Amino acid sequence: MKDSVLILSIESSCDETAAAVVENGRNVLSNVISSQIEIHKQFGGVVPEVASRKHIENINDVVSEALINANVSCEQLDAVAVTYGPGLVGALLVGVNFAKGLSYAWNKPLIGVNHIEGHISANYIENKNLEPPFICMVASGGHTHLVYVKNYGEYEILGKTRDDAAGEAFDKIARAIGLGYPGGPLIDEISKRGNKDAIKFPRVIIDDDTLDFSFSGLKSAVLNYIHNSEQKNEKIVIEDVAASFQEAVVDVLVLKTIEAAQIKNCHTITLAGGVASNSRLRERIMDECIRLNYKFTKPSPILCTDNAAMIGCAGYYKYLNKQFADSSLNAMPNLELTE
Ligand code: KG4
Ligand code: ZN
Repeated sequence: MKDSVLILSIESSCDETAAAVVENGRNVLSNVISSQIEIHKQFGGVVPEVASRKHIENINDVVSEALINANVSCEQLDAVAVTYGPGLVGALLVGVNFAKGLSYAWNKPLIGVNHIEGHISANYIENKNLEPPFICMVASGGHTHLVYVKNYGEYEILGKTRDDAAGEAFDKIARAIGLGYPGGPLIDEISKRGNKDAIKFPRVIIDDDTLDFSFSGLKSAVLNYIHNSEQKNEKIVIEDVAASFQEAVVDVLVLKTIEAAQIKNCHTITLAGGVASNSRLRERIMDECIRLNYKFTKPSPILCTDNAAMIGCAGYYKYLNKQFADSSLNAMPNLELTE
């Protein structure tokens, strides 16, 4: 086994075209992210067809930049890793086909990576001593999963959302109170000036012994509050609505995460996915972990939202297990973590 394994990784599952070069899974030599947020903003959300076209336009430059920034040539690479699901099928196909082309042309092994596994693996990058087992709360625009990471590549899903993902709820409420897209960071920001106790929104705890989530009831409660206030001509303080909504989401995420740690008797907690960059969630989970004397690690915000470094990290552990894909690798929009 070589001392240094260099993986070029590619991510294009949603609205970020990203490429990175990662050494030995945890040392990020470059991490290029070309975001399409400015383009999708005008539509209030990601338009799949537009996303695919933009990935096609950007991917060559993004991959070249990743190699240049890392000062690594294609000959030096050991493998090419790529997200093959879950995500938008047209968007995924751009990355998958590009990676397949590179793997064939450069004669390097190809590795297919699950996007959620990538998000979880982002925790290894800055926390060099982190090793499984641990609990990971994965909350993004499309997914909310409470995962027990038993070993590298071995996962048990303890709970997931039965309706909206946490990030989706942030985005929908942001739109309802007139903020732009993506809503999560904007709600996070204005909540700092709001009163989290101003409005008592429901904390939906599903009452049947599961660690599943549900955010659609909370979303409806916030929308009803806004409509009722408008009908009564009452002024809505959007900072208070944002802070009270955010607190309701965070309360549930924190409660279920701690419950999962207790059930599994596993006292290391991590966060992943775009919502993991939420400042209130990070603060609250950290406070709980200090109180309970649990270990807590989280990726920097830039490694919580979509990026390719996390795919290179997950890809490294597949490389070690020789889990290579062949040219039949296809985009799988509904790929499950435990498939
Ligand atoms: O992981 P990600 O970049 O893409 C998906 O895989 O979905 O997550 C994007 C989601 C969006 O819904 C966005 O609003 C949310 O993460 N998000 C946040 C924050 N930053 C991003 N939600 C709450 N607070 C934030 N600071
Ligand atoms: Zn993601």
